Amino acid sequence: MDAAYRKVNGEHGAQGSMYLEEKTNKTGVLSCIFSLKEEVGALAKALRLFEEKGINLTHIESRPSRSNSQEYEIFINVDTACSQALDEVIDGLRTQISGHVHELSRNKQKDTVPWFPHEIHDLDRFANQILSYGSELDADHPGFTDPVYRARRKEFADIAYNYRHGQAIPMVEYTKEEKDTWGVVFRELKTLYPTHACREHNRVFPLLEKYCGYREDNIPQLEDISKFLQSCTGFRLRPVAGLLSSRDFLAGLAFRVFHSTQYIRHSSKPMYTPEPDICHELLGHVPLFADPSFARFSQEIGLASLGAPDEFIEKLATVYWFTVEFGLCKQGSEIKAYGAGLLSSFGELQYCLTEKPGLHTFDPEKTCIQKYPITEFQPVYFVAESFEDAKEKVRKFAGTIPRPFSVRYNPYTQSIEVLDNTQQLRNLADAISGDMGILCNALRKLE
Ligand SMILES: [Fe+2]
Repeated sequence: MDAAYRKVNGEHGAQGSMYLEEKTNKTGVLSCIFSLKEEVGALAKALRLFEEKGINLTHIESRPSRSNSQEYEIFINVDTACSQALDEVIDGLRTQISGHVHELSRNKQKDTVPWFPHEIHDLDRFANQILSYGSELDADHPGFTDPVYRARRKEFADIAYNYRHGQAIPMVEYTKEEKDTWGVVFRELKTLYPTHACREHNRVFPLLEKYCGYREDNIPQLEDISKFLQSCTGFRLRPVAGLLSSRDFLAGLAFRVFHSTQYIRHSSKPMYTPEPDICHELLGHVPLFADPSFARFSQEIGLASLGAPDEFIEKLATVYWFTVEFGLCKQGSEIKAYGAGLLSSFGELQYCLTEKPGLHTFDPEKTCIQKYPITEFQPVYFVAESFEDAKEKVRKFAGTIPRPFSVRYNPYTQSIEVLDNTQQLRNLADAISGDMGILCNALRKLE
Protein backbone atom coordinates (compact mmCIF):
# COMPACT_ATOMS: atom_id res chain seq x y z
CA MET A 1 0.00 0.00 0.00
CA ASP A 2 1.31 3.45 -0.72
CA ALA A 3 0.89 6.96 0.55
CA ALA A 4 -2.53 7.37 -1.01
CA TYR A 5 -3.94 5.46 1.94
CA ARG A 6 -4.65 8.20 4.40
CA LYS A 7 -6.81 8.55 7.46
CA VAL A 8 -8.23 11.98 7.95
CA ASN A 9 -9.34 12.94 11.40
CA GLY A 10 -10.50 16.47 10.79
CA GLU A 11 -8.16 19.34 10.29
CA HIS A 12 -5.39 18.52 12.75
CA GLY A 13 -6.23 15.05 13.84
CA ALA A 14 -9.22 16.08 15.95
CA GLN A 15 -11.04 13.17 17.51
CA GLY A 16 -14.40 11.84 16.56
CA SER A 17 -14.53 10.94 12.90
CA MET A 18 -13.19 8.20 10.67
CA TYR A 19 -12.71 9.29 7.12
CA LEU A 20 -10.67 7.72 4.45
CA GLU A 21 -9.94 10.30 1.86
CA GLU A 22 -8.57 9.45 -1.49
CA LYS A 23 -5.91 11.74 -2.83
CA THR A 24 -5.31 9.90 -6.05
CA ASN A 25 -6.67 11.06 -9.35
CA LYS A 26 -9.60 8.74 -10.12
CA THR A 27 -8.52 8.28 -13.71
CA GLY A 28 -6.71 5.00 -14.14
CA VAL A 29 -8.15 3.55 -10.95
CA LEU A 30 -10.14 0.33 -10.61
CA SER A 31 -12.37 -0.05 -7.58
CA CYS A 32 -14.23 -2.93 -6.05
CA ILE A 33 -16.06 -3.75 -2.85
CA PHE A 34 -16.16 -7.21 -1.32
CA SER A 35 -17.72 -8.57 1.85
CA LEU A 36 -15.96 -10.53 4.56
CA LYS A 37 -17.33 -12.45 7.51
CA GLU A 38 -16.31 -10.86 10.80
CA GLU A 39 -13.70 -13.42 11.88
CA VAL A 40 -10.03 -13.50 12.73
CA GLY A 41 -7.76 -13.59 9.69
CA ALA A 42 -10.49 -13.01 7.10
CA LEU A 43 -8.96 -9.81 5.78
CA ALA A 44 -5.45 -11.27 5.74
CA LYS A 45 -6.75 -14.22 3.68
CA ALA A 46 -8.36 -11.88 1.16
CA LEU A 47 -5.31 -9.63 0.94
CA ARG A 48 -3.12 -12.64 0.30
CA LEU A 49 -5.00 -13.17 -2.99
CA PHE A 50 -3.96 -9.68 -4.08
CA GLU A 51 -0.39 -10.27 -2.95
CA GLU A 52 -0.16 -13.56 -4.85
CA LYS A 53 -1.13 -11.77 -8.06
CA GLY A 54 1.34 -8.94 -7.39
CA ILE A 55 -1.39 -6.30 -7.09
CA ASN A 56 -0.58 -3.13 -5.19
CA LEU A 57 -3.63 -1.71 -3.40
CA THR A 58 -3.59 2.07 -3.67
CA HIS A 59 -6.51 2.54 -1.28
CA ILE A 60 -8.37 0.36 1.18
CA GLU A 61 -11.13 1.07 3.67
CA SER A 62 -13.64 -0.96 5.63
CA ARG A 63 -17.09 -0.45 7.06
CA PRO A 64 -19.75 -2.63 8.68
CA SER A 65 -22.02 -4.16 6.05
CA ARG A 66 -25.48 -2.66 5.89
CA SER A 67 -27.09 -5.80 4.53
CA ASN A 68 -25.47 -8.30 6.88
CA SER A 69 -24.46 -7.39 10.44
CA GLN A 70 -22.08 -10.39 10.54
CA GLU A 71 -19.99 -8.99 7.71
CA TYR A 72 -17.65 -6.16 6.85
CA GLU A 73 -17.36 -4.50 3.47
CA ILE A 74 -13.89 -3.76 2.15
CA PHE A 75 -13.46 -1.10 -0.52
CA ILE A 76 -10.22 -1.18 -2.51
CA ASN A 77 -8.58 0.69 -5.37
CA VAL A 78 -5.89 -0.68 -7.64
CA ASP A 79 -4.13 0.67 -10.69
CA THR A 80 -5.73 -0.08 -14.09
CA ALA A 81 -2.49 -1.81 -15.11
CA CYS A 82 -3.62 -4.62 -12.80
CA SER A 83 -6.89 -5.11 -14.67
CA GLN A 84 -6.33 -8.69 -15.74
CA ALA A 85 -4.84 -9.82 -12.45
CA LEU A 86 -7.76 -8.17 -10.64
CA ASP A 87 -10.22 -10.30 -12.61
CA GLU A 88 -8.45 -13.40 -11.31
CA VAL A 89 -8.47 -12.09 -7.73
CA ILE A 90 -12.18 -11.29 -7.99
CA ASP A 91 -12.82 -14.86 -9.11
CA GLY A 92 -10.82 -16.01 -6.11
CA LEU A 93 -12.75 -13.76 -3.73
CA ARG A 94 -16.03 -15.06 -5.11
CA THR A 95 -15.15 -18.72 -4.97
CA GLN A 96 -12.80 -18.95 -1.99
CA ILE A 97 -13.80 -16.17 0.39
CA SER A 98 -17.14 -14.46 0.45
CA GLY A 99 -19.11 -14.72 -2.76
CA HIS A 100 -20.08 -11.06 -2.58
CA VAL A 101 -18.01 -8.82 -4.81
CA HIS A 102 -19.20 -5.59 -6.41
CA GLU A 103 -16.99 -4.35 -9.19
CA LEU A 104 -17.03 -0.57 -9.42
CA SER A 105 -15.24 -0.76 -12.75
CA ARG A 106 -15.15 2.96 -13.41
CA ASN A 107 -12.25 2.84 -15.86
CA LYS A 108 -11.99 -0.82 -16.46
CA GLN A 109 -12.10 -2.03 -20.01
CA LYS A 110 -13.55 -0.43 -23.05
CA ASP A 111 -16.62 -2.62 -23.26
CA THR A 112 -17.37 -2.91 -19.57
CA VAL A 113 -20.46 -1.13 -18.26
CA PRO A 114 -19.43 0.99 -15.27
CA TRP A 115 -21.18 0.20 -12.01
CA PHE A 116 -24.21 2.33 -11.19
CA PRO A 117 -26.68 2.39 -8.30
CA HIS A 118 -29.79 0.27 -8.85
CA GLU A 119 -31.57 0.93 -5.55
CA ILE A 120 -31.99 4.30 -3.90
CA HIS A 121 -30.11 2.90 -0.86
CA ASP A 122 -27.08 2.41 -3.11
CA LEU A 123 -26.59 6.19 -3.00
CA ASP A 124 -25.24 5.68 0.54
CA ARG A 125 -22.10 4.34 -1.12
CA PHE A 126 -21.29 7.83 -2.42
CA ALA A 127 -21.02 9.38 1.05
CA ASN A 128 -17.32 8.64 1.43
CA GLN A 129 -16.44 8.93 -2.25
CA ILE A 130 -16.11 12.69 -2.29
CA LEU A 131 -13.42 14.31 -4.41
CA SER A 132 -12.72 17.02 -1.87
CA TYR A 133 -13.38 16.83 1.83
CA GLY A 134 -15.86 19.39 3.11
CA SER A 135 -13.61 20.94 5.73
CA GLU A 136 -10.35 20.96 3.81
CA LEU A 137 -10.20 24.39 2.24
CA ASP A 138 -7.87 25.68 -0.43
CA ALA A 139 -5.41 28.39 0.56
CA ASP A 140 -7.39 31.02 -1.35
CA HIS A 141 -10.71 30.13 0.32
CA PRO A 142 -12.07 33.09 2.34
CA GLY A 143 -12.36 30.85 5.41
CA PHE A 144 -8.89 29.28 5.10
CA THR A 145 -7.35 31.11 8.09
CA ASP A 146 -10.47 31.05 10.27
CA PRO A 147 -10.28 28.11 12.73
CA VAL A 148 -13.88 28.61 13.90
CA TYR A 149 -15.19 28.39 10.34
CA ARG A 150 -13.08 25.34 9.62
CA ALA A 151 -14.32 23.55 12.73
CA ARG A 152 -17.86 24.39 11.67
CA ARG A 153 -17.26 22.96 8.22
CA LYS A 154 -16.16 19.72 9.82
CA GLU A 155 -19.44 19.51 11.77
CA PHE A 156 -21.37 19.75 8.49
CA ALA A 157 -19.12 17.18 6.84
CA ASP A 158 -19.79 14.79 9.73
CA ILE A 159 -23.54 15.09 9.25
CA ALA A 160 -23.23 14.26 5.57
CA TYR A 161 -20.79 11.41 6.08
CA ASN A 162 -22.99 9.72 8.65
CA TYR A 163 -26.27 10.26 6.80
CA ARG A 164 -28.03 7.22 5.37
CA HIS A 165 -31.02 7.08 3.04
CA GLY A 166 -34.33 7.08 4.89
CA GLN A 167 -33.07 9.06 7.86
CA ALA A 168 -34.30 12.56 8.60
CA ILE A 169 -31.62 15.11 7.69
CA PRO A 170 -30.34 16.48 11.02
CA MET A 171 -31.56 20.00 11.80
CA VAL A 172 -28.80 22.58 12.19
CA GLU A 173 -28.78 25.46 14.63
CA TYR A 174 -27.21 28.20 12.51
CA THR A 175 -25.22 30.91 14.31
CA LYS A 176 -26.08 34.61 14.16
CA GLU A 177 -23.08 35.19 11.91
CA GLU A 178 -24.27 32.50 9.51
CA LYS A 179 -27.80 33.88 9.48
CA ASP A 180 -26.48 37.36 8.79
CA THR A 181 -24.54 36.07 5.79
CA TRP A 182 -27.63 34.29 4.49
CA GLY A 183 -29.66 37.48 5.08
CA VAL A 184 -27.40 39.58 2.84
CA VAL A 185 -27.54 37.06 -0.01
CA PHE A 186 -31.29 36.46 0.36
CA ARG A 187 -32.16 40.19 0.42
CA GLU A 188 -30.04 41.11 -2.59
CA LEU A 189 -31.08 38.22 -4.81
CA LYS A 190 -34.76 38.59 -4.00
CA THR A 191 -34.75 42.06 -5.56
CA LEU A 192 -33.70 40.54 -8.91
CA TYR A 193 -35.97 37.50 -9.10
CA PRO A 194 -39.15 39.23 -10.34
CA THR A 195 -37.35 40.57 -13.42
CA HIS A 196 -34.59 38.01 -14.04
CA ALA A 197 -35.78 34.58 -12.86
CA CYS A 198 -37.98 32.26 -14.91
CA ARG A 199 -41.66 32.08 -14.06
CA GLU A 200 -41.32 28.62 -12.47
CA HIS A 201 -38.82 30.00 -9.95
CA ASN A 202 -41.07 32.95 -9.18
CA ARG A 203 -44.09 30.69 -8.80
CA VAL A 204 -42.40 28.39 -6.28
CA PHE A 205 -40.46 30.95 -4.26
CA PRO A 206 -43.47 32.29 -2.30
CA LEU A 207 -44.40 28.68 -1.45
CA LEU A 208 -40.95 28.15 0.02
CA GLU A 209 -41.44 31.29 2.09
CA LYS A 210 -44.80 30.02 3.24
CA TYR A 211 -43.95 26.38 3.97
CA CYS A 212 -40.18 26.05 4.39
CA GLY A 213 -39.07 29.05 6.42
CA TYR A 214 -37.43 30.99 3.58
CA ARG A 215 -36.84 34.35 5.30
CA GLU A 216 -34.11 36.92 5.46
CA ASP A 217 -33.49 36.11 9.16
CA ASN A 218 -33.76 32.32 8.88
CA ILE A 219 -31.73 29.68 7.05
CA PRO A 220 -34.22 26.98 6.04
CA GLN A 221 -33.60 23.36 7.06
CA LEU A 222 -32.80 20.73 4.42
CA GLU A 223 -35.25 18.28 5.99
CA ASP A 224 -38.20 20.69 5.68
CA ILE A 225 -37.30 21.45 2.09
CA SER A 226 -36.82 17.80 1.22
CA LYS A 227 -40.32 17.00 2.51
CA PHE A 228 -41.76 19.91 0.55
CA LEU A 229 -40.05 18.83 -2.67
CA GLN A 230 -41.22 15.25 -2.21
CA SER A 231 -44.81 16.49 -2.03
CA CYS A 232 -44.34 18.51 -5.24
CA THR A 233 -42.28 16.29 -7.55
CA GLY A 234 -40.84 13.42 -5.52
CA PHE A 235 -37.42 15.09 -5.49
CA ARG A 236 -35.56 14.85 -2.21
CA LEU A 237 -32.36 16.27 -0.77
CA ARG A 238 -29.54 14.44 0.87
CA PRO A 239 -26.61 16.15 2.58
CA VAL A 240 -23.20 15.85 0.96
CA ALA A 241 -19.82 16.55 2.57
CA GLY A 242 -17.97 17.81 -0.48
CA LEU A 243 -17.77 17.52 -4.23
CA LEU A 244 -18.93 14.24 -5.72
CA SER A 245 -17.67 12.97 -9.04
CA SER A 246 -19.92 13.89 -11.98
CA ARG A 247 -20.89 10.25 -12.36
CA ASP A 248 -22.08 9.93 -8.76
CA PHE A 249 -23.78 13.30 -8.68
CA LEU A 250 -25.69 12.67 -11.92
CA ALA A 251 -26.69 9.18 -10.75
CA GLY A 252 -28.47 10.81 -7.79
CA LEU A 253 -30.68 12.76 -10.19
CA ALA A 254 -31.85 9.50 -11.78
CA PHE A 255 -33.51 8.74 -8.42
CA ARG A 256 -34.76 12.32 -8.06
CA VAL A 257 -32.20 12.82 -5.32
CA PHE A 258 -30.26 16.05 -5.15
CA HIS A 259 -27.01 16.07 -3.16
CA SER A 260 -26.99 19.33 -1.25
CA THR A 261 -24.40 21.09 0.86
CA GLN A 262 -25.56 22.35 4.25
CA TYR A 263 -22.76 24.74 5.23
CA ILE A 264 -22.69 28.42 4.35
CA ARG A 265 -19.98 30.56 2.72
CA HIS A 266 -17.55 32.56 4.87
CA SER A 267 -19.01 35.73 6.42
CA SER A 268 -16.14 37.93 5.19
CA LYS A 269 -17.42 37.69 1.60
CA PRO A 270 -21.18 37.16 1.62
CA MET A 271 -21.52 37.75 -2.11
CA TYR A 272 -18.79 35.26 -3.07
CA THR A 273 -18.25 31.55 -2.70
CA PRO A 274 -15.69 29.41 -4.51
CA GLU A 275 -17.89 26.29 -4.10
CA PRO A 276 -21.56 25.38 -3.79
CA ASP A 277 -23.01 26.34 -0.40
CA ILE A 278 -26.46 26.42 1.13
CA CYS A 279 -27.27 29.78 -0.48
CA HIS A 280 -26.53 28.31 -3.90
CA GLU A 281 -28.55 25.14 -3.25
CA LEU A 282 -31.57 26.69 -1.56
CA LEU A 283 -31.96 29.87 -3.61
CA GLY A 284 -30.69 28.54 -6.94
CA HIS A 285 -31.58 24.83 -7.17
CA VAL A 286 -34.44 24.09 -4.82
CA PRO A 287 -37.21 26.24 -6.36
CA LEU A 288 -36.84 24.57 -9.76
CA PHE A 289 -36.88 21.03 -8.34
CA ALA A 290 -40.43 21.78 -7.19
CA ASP A 291 -41.50 22.22 -10.82
CA PRO A 292 -42.73 18.94 -12.42
CA SER A 293 -41.36 19.70 -15.85
CA PHE A 294 -37.93 20.71 -14.61
CA ALA A 295 -37.86 17.67 -12.31
CA ARG A 296 -38.48 15.39 -15.30
CA PHE A 297 -35.75 17.13 -17.27
CA SER A 298 -33.22 16.80 -14.42
CA GLN A 299 -34.04 13.13 -13.92
CA GLU A 300 -33.58 12.53 -17.65
CA ILE A 301 -29.96 13.73 -17.44
CA GLY A 302 -29.45 11.41 -14.46
CA LEU A 303 -30.94 8.38 -16.22
CA ALA A 304 -28.80 9.05 -19.29
CA SER A 305 -25.68 8.89 -17.10
CA LEU A 306 -26.26 5.40 -15.64
CA GLY A 307 -23.70 2.98 -16.98
CA ALA A 308 -22.51 5.51 -19.58
CA PRO A 309 -18.82 5.47 -20.60
CA ASP A 310 -16.58 8.13 -19.08
CA GLU A 311 -16.49 10.33 -22.17
CA PHE A 312 -20.30 10.55 -22.14
CA ILE A 313 -20.34 11.36 -18.43
CA GLU A 314 -18.16 14.33 -19.25
CA LYS A 315 -20.57 15.37 -22.00
CA LEU A 316 -23.59 14.98 -19.72
CA ALA A 317 -21.83 16.96 -16.99
CA THR A 318 -21.34 19.73 -19.55
CA VAL A 319 -25.03 19.57 -20.51
CA TYR A 320 -25.85 19.77 -16.79
CA TRP A 321 -23.56 22.79 -16.45
CA PHE A 322 -25.26 24.71 -19.25
CA THR A 323 -28.78 23.84 -18.11
CA VAL A 324 -29.30 23.11 -14.41
CA GLU A 325 -26.40 25.40 -13.42
CA PHE A 326 -26.31 28.14 -16.05
CA GLY A 327 -29.39 27.66 -18.22
CA LEU A 328 -31.52 30.37 -19.79
CA CYS A 329 -34.97 29.73 -21.23
CA LYS A 330 -37.49 31.41 -23.47
CA GLN A 331 -40.62 32.69 -21.78
CA GLY A 332 -42.92 34.36 -24.30
CA SER A 333 -40.87 37.03 -26.03
CA GLU A 334 -38.36 37.24 -23.19
CA ILE A 335 -35.37 35.24 -21.97
CA LYS A 336 -35.09 34.39 -18.27
CA ALA A 337 -32.65 32.55 -16.04
CA TYR A 338 -33.33 29.10 -14.59
CA GLY A 339 -29.77 27.88 -13.84
CA ALA A 340 -28.88 27.72 -10.15
CA GLY A 341 -25.44 29.26 -10.71
CA LEU A 342 -27.22 32.32 -12.08
CA LEU A 343 -30.07 32.45 -9.59
CA SER A 344 -27.62 32.39 -6.69
CA SER A 345 -25.19 35.00 -8.05
CA PHE A 346 -26.21 38.65 -7.83
CA GLY A 347 -23.59 39.73 -10.38
CA GLU A 348 -24.02 37.00 -12.97
CA LEU A 349 -27.82 37.06 -12.79
CA GLN A 350 -27.70 40.65 -14.00
CA TYR A 351 -24.91 40.03 -16.50
CA CYS A 352 -26.49 36.99 -18.19
CA LEU A 353 -29.45 38.99 -19.48
CA THR A 354 -27.36 41.82 -20.94
CA GLU A 355 -25.98 42.03 -24.49
CA LYS A 356 -22.51 40.90 -23.38
CA PRO A 357 -22.65 37.06 -23.40
CA GLY A 358 -23.25 34.97 -26.52
CA LEU A 359 -26.56 33.05 -26.67
CA HIS A 360 -27.06 29.72 -28.46
CA THR A 361 -30.07 27.46 -28.79
CA PHE A 362 -29.87 24.48 -26.43
CA ASP A 363 -28.89 21.39 -28.39
CA PRO A 364 -27.25 18.60 -26.36
CA GLU A 365 -25.07 17.51 -29.32
CA LYS A 366 -23.49 20.96 -29.49
CA THR A 367 -23.86 22.02 -25.86
CA CYS A 368 -22.01 18.93 -24.62
CA ILE A 369 -18.74 19.93 -26.29
CA GLN A 370 -18.77 23.62 -25.33
CA LYS A 371 -15.79 24.63 -23.18
CA TYR A 372 -16.49 26.82 -20.15
CA PRO A 373 -14.67 28.71 -17.40
CA ILE A 374 -15.57 27.90 -13.79
CA THR A 375 -14.19 30.95 -11.99
CA GLU A 376 -15.65 33.78 -14.05
CA PHE A 377 -18.93 34.76 -15.70
CA GLN A 378 -19.86 32.51 -18.61
CA PRO A 379 -19.06 33.97 -22.05
CA VAL A 380 -21.75 31.75 -23.62
CA TYR A 381 -25.20 30.56 -22.48
CA PHE A 382 -27.64 28.08 -24.04
CA VAL A 383 -31.31 28.95 -24.29
CA ALA A 384 -33.95 26.23 -23.91
CA GLU A 385 -37.32 26.49 -25.68
CA SER A 386 -38.97 24.91 -22.62
CA PHE A 387 -38.11 22.29 -20.02
CA GLU A 388 -40.22 19.72 -21.88
CA ASP A 389 -38.37 20.46 -25.11
CA ALA A 390 -35.01 20.25 -23.31
CA LYS A 391 -36.06 16.92 -21.77
CA GLU A 392 -36.97 15.44 -25.15
CA LYS A 393 -33.65 16.59 -26.60
CA VAL A 394 -31.70 15.02 -23.71
CA ARG A 395 -33.69 11.79 -24.12
CA LYS A 396 -32.78 11.69 -27.80
CA PHE A 397 -29.17 12.44 -26.95
CA ALA A 398 -29.20 9.61 -24.39
CA GLY A 399 -30.14 7.27 -27.23
CA THR A 400 -26.70 7.87 -28.75
CA ILE A 401 -24.89 6.70 -25.61
CA PRO A 402 -23.29 3.33 -26.28
CA ARG A 403 -24.75 1.07 -23.60
CA PRO A 404 -26.40 -2.28 -24.28
CA PHE A 405 -29.67 -1.56 -22.43
CA SER A 406 -32.22 1.12 -21.62
CA VAL A 407 -33.14 2.14 -18.10
CA ARG A 408 -36.30 3.29 -16.41
CA TYR A 409 -36.93 4.51 -12.88
CA ASN A 410 -39.60 2.65 -10.96
CA PRO A 411 -40.96 5.12 -8.38
CA TYR A 412 -42.85 2.37 -6.49
CA THR A 413 -39.72 0.40 -5.69
CA GLN A 414 -37.40 3.43 -5.94
CA SER A 415 -35.11 1.44 -8.15
CA ILE A 416 -33.69 1.46 -11.66
CA GLU A 417 -35.09 -1.14 -14.02
CA VAL A 418 -32.65 -2.28 -16.65
CA LEU A 419 -34.73 -3.01 -19.73
CA ASP A 420 -32.67 -5.77 -21.28
CA ASN A 421 -35.05 -8.73 -21.32
CA THR A 422 -38.56 -9.51 -22.55
CA GLN A 423 -40.02 -9.89 -19.05
CA GLN A 424 -38.96 -6.34 -18.16
CA LEU A 425 -40.44 -5.05 -21.41
CA ARG A 426 -43.68 -6.96 -20.78
CA ASN A 427 -43.94 -5.37 -17.32
CA LEU A 428 -43.41 -1.96 -18.85
CA ALA A 429 -46.03 -2.65 -21.54
CA ASP A 430 -48.51 -3.67 -18.81
CA ALA A 431 -47.83 -0.47 -16.87
CA ILE A 432 -48.28 1.68 -19.98
CA SER A 433 -51.42 -0.20 -20.95
CA GLY A 434 -52.87 0.46 -17.48
CA ASP A 435 -52.10 4.18 -17.80
CA MET A 436 -53.54 4.26 -21.32
CA GLY A 437 -56.79 2.80 -19.98
CA ILE A 438 -56.98 5.56 -17.36
CA LEU A 439 -56.25 8.21 -20.00
CA CYS A 440 -58.93 6.90 -22.40
CA ASN A 441 -61.52 6.74 -19.59
CA ALA A 442 -60.73 10.26 -18.48
CA LEU A 443 -60.97 11.54 -22.06
CA ARG A 444 -64.36 9.83 -22.56
CA LYS A 445 -65.67 11.46 -19.38
CA LEU A 446 -64.63 14.89 -20.62
CA GLU A 447 -66.45 14.50 -23.95
FE1 LIG B 1 -25.20 23.71 -8.28
